[in-house]
Amino acid sequence: MLSEPPTTKMFKNIITTLRGEAGFRYIAKAREMTRVGLKVINFGVGQPDVPTFQHIVDEAKKALDSGFTGYTETSGIPELRAAISEYLNSRYGSDVKADEVIVTPGAKPAIFLAIASYIEPGDEVIIPEPSFPAYPEIVRFLGAKPIYVPLKWINEDRGFEIDLNTIESAITSKTKMIVINNPHNPTGTVFSPKQIEDIYRIAAEHRLLILADEIYDNFLYDGEKLKSFISFADWRDYLLYVNGFSKTFSMTGWRLGYLVARSEVVSKMTRLAVNIWSCATSFVQRAGVAALKGSWKTVEDMIKLFERRRNVAVKKLKEIRGIKVYPSKGTFYLFPYIGDILRVVGMSSEQFVENLIGRKHVVVLPGTVFPDKAGAEFIRISFALNEDKIIEGIERFKSFVEELMRG
Ligand SMILES: Cc1ncc(COP(=O)(O)O)c(C=O)c1O
Repeated sequence: MLSEPPTTKMFKNIITTLRGEAGFRYIAKAREMTRVGLKVINFGVGQPDVPTFQHIVDEAKKALDSGFTGYTETSGIPELRAAISEYLNSRYGSDVKADEVIVTPGAKPAIFLAIASYIEPGDEVIIPEPSFPAYPEIVRFLGAKPIYVPLKWINEDRGFEIDLNTIESAITSKTKMIVINNPHNPTGTVFSPKQIEDIYRIAAEHRLLILADEIYDNFLYDGEKLKSFISFADWRDYLLYVNGFSKTFSMTGWRLGYLVARSEVVSKMTRLAVNIWSCATSFVQRAGVAALKGSWKTVEDMIKLFERRRNVAVKKLKEIRGIKVYPSKGTFYLFPYIGDILRVVGMSSEQFVENLIGRKHVVVLPGTVFPDKAGAEFIRISFALNEDKIIEGIERFKSFVEELMRG
């Protein structure tokens, strides 16, 4: 008998070990359940539920109609690179130049580009956990090691905090990079300006890179302000800055993001980008210019809407005995603590979630998909869905918990 064919035999094992983004798995499950006629309420999604704003859609149509459909510059069309630098400078008082921006097909490719451009086998990358899973998986793919530093759950009023001593003590001679996502998926934390300054100082003292992912920078509540890493005067020495259009402009399926780094680094990274994706989609880039330069009222209205939804979701969740919920200051996620309930009913967070989906058709994500242990006693709930659904979903959730607790 012939041995396994090369296509099977030679496949790189590391790829089969990569964990997918659970959100996608649960979206597929929710879709399938809806298809067979179940009334699913899906708190798993990581995208705004509002359609992409009309002026952005119109600009994409215009670009298509005018035949703007070919390849563009790998680093992005000049108008978009300029618009991105203007956005960052006017918002954060920075001094980013257009040639320090590389436009990517989504924020994830920007994350990949940043990590792949620096990280070599054996390197260590410090990642606060819970974490968006793409960072550690890309690090592992490159043969390097994610070093998780757990965020500390304090209580319902303070939420999660980052312990700078744990970050500092995780640094070894192999450490190259610290990844900071702010506002933070999945916990909804907005790190304070002081914490951001301290992290920056630690990185600078140890001559480390910072990969800052600020894709939720517009999703801020209760008047919260964001201290952006791009606002540091010497950012060019330490920073790889990621942001994108997916969340702010509800453009997840359009695939448009960007990376900011010092100009000579950007031009070197272009060599990797051109060999993988050539460029971001041409007409989507035009739409990106319209998004940044058009009226921001649609974005502001969406954030106000999300703040109201957050309030409703928090109020309803607080009615459930045993759950502790911190009202997120940023993103559109809540990350309630359910550890006491899990202990009483003897379930893991995955079992809890599977049962909730099976019995009540309510989809939430288990904290363990972010992506290891720190989230084991939590679940992630997205409030990017309408108020009626939020209320009904949490009521079903409440009855599920009550039934579980009654045994
Ligand atoms: C923290 C974080 N970074 C990056 C992304 C990916 O963004 P994009 O869809 O633009 O690739 C997400 C999406 O969920 C995210 O939560």
